[in-house]
Order: sequence, then C-alpha cells, then structure tokens
Amino acid sequence: MPPRPTNPPTARLEALHERIAILRFLDPACGCGNFLVITYRELRALELEILLELHRNELSETQHEFSFDVTKLSKVDVDQMHGIEIEEFPAKITEVALWLADHQANIALSETFGQLYRRIPLKKSPHIVCANALRTDWKTVLPPEQCSYVLGNPPFVGKHYQNAEQKADMGVVFGEFDNNGDVDFVVSWFVKAADYIRGTTIRCALVSTKNIVQGEQLPII
Ligand SMILES: C[S@@+](CC[C@H](N)C(=O)[O-])C[C@H]1O[C@@H](n2cnc3c(N)ncnc32)[C@H](O)[C@@H]1O
Repeated sequence: MPPRPTNPPTARLEALHERIAILRFLDPACGCGNFLVITYRELRALELEILLELHRNELSETQHEFSFDVTKLSKVDVDQMHGIEIEEFPAKITEVALWLADHQANIALSETFGQLYRRIPLKKSPHIVCANALRTDWKTVLPPEQCSYVLGNPPFVGKHYQNAEQKADMGVVFGEFDNNGDVDFVVSWFVKAADYIRGTTIRCALVSTKNIVQGEQLPII
C-alpha cells in the first residue's frame, strides 16, 4: 500500500466532504434499518476524519479555544437515508435507530472538538416509508436523479414458500412477463431496482440467494 499522505490537500478534503454530504441511499426492504444505520454511522465516521484533518492545526495550536463554530462543521445528516418497509413497527425502529446513530456521531464530534454539538430540536428526518415496495414507485420515495446507492437484503422466499399475496406482488412487478412462477421472491427487487437505476449512475447491491444466478431461474431472469 502507498504511504498515507501526511498533509492531504485541503481542497480535496473539502471536495470529499461536500461529496459525502450529497450522497443519498435507498434500502427498499429496510426492516429495522441495520444497513442504513451502518451506512450512516460510517459516513459520519469518515466525515469526522475529514474534519480532523481539515482542523488539525487549529486543534493543536489553540487547545480547544476555537475561532470556528463547531455547530457548522457537520454536513452529513439523517435525511440522506431512505427506506421502504412493509411492516410498521420495523419502519419506526429504523427511524429511531438513525436518530440514535446521529446522536452518537454528534457526541463523537463533541468529544473530538471539545465543544458540545447536538441537533436538538430535530430538524431533519430519515425518509422511511411504510409501504409494499413491490407496489410502490421507488421514484416517489427518492427521485433516481438524487439517489447514489440502492442497498439491502430483501426477503428471499423460494417458490414453494411464497404466499398468495407475494405471488400477486410478483405478478405486478413482472407485468406481462408471466413466467415468474419459478423464481425467488427476491428477484422482484432486482427487477424493480433495474428499472429504477436505468439511465443513471446509481450503484446497487442487494443480498440474495445464489439460486437466482444458476439453474432454472437464470434463463427466466
Ligand atoms: C431480511 S429482512 C431485512 C432486514 C434489514 N436489512 C434490517 O436491517 O433489519 C427483509 C425485510 O423486508 C420486509 N419486506 C417483506 N416484503 C416486503 C415488501 N413487499 N415491501 C417492503 N418490505 C418488505 C420484511 O418485513 C423485512 O423487514
């Protein structure tokens, strides 16, 4: 590995900071929000590293008597996170878990810079929609031109385990292509995601069973 630069150029760090503050994430089967929470936690940790580098000199020279306002340092916020979840309770948990992650990141920022930083009253919210993702137009949750990444682990559910409602949902997703009876339920999310990201630079990563890339499912998909 190349040695880490000891003095990274300020302009590049500021550009990276701006960049991570405009990223938007969508988990279309977010459950209790672990994927969104970890994404948010890591973004805030990266932001803290950037801020430390940008203000390293002030930190060592002034010994916590700053000329800047710590409340203006952080740009990454919970409204960058978007989710769809069919069950109401996990949807609520996701929202609260993101605020908790936000609070923990704010404490870390406070401790690093020696000034209290908190976002109270809460002005921004995560965008968590309680709905059936297979019957929802994802563009209404997050317009694709604003989205950076789609991620998650939608339910797998092999063909023998799908209930009538799930089969009906698949019918909606597959439309006129009605030969979907042999594929796992999770494929519906890939079809929706492919439609959502078409013509954009969105990157997509969904956890799945390997069944969908082998055997009888592959030609159908
Ligand atoms: C494997 S779990 C995902 C867990 C999630 N990553 C977490 O951190 O909690 C799949 C989730 O998809 C949800 N789900 C199932 N069918 C759905 C649908 N049609 N639309 C939206 N969410 C759905 C389930 O309720 C479940 O919470």
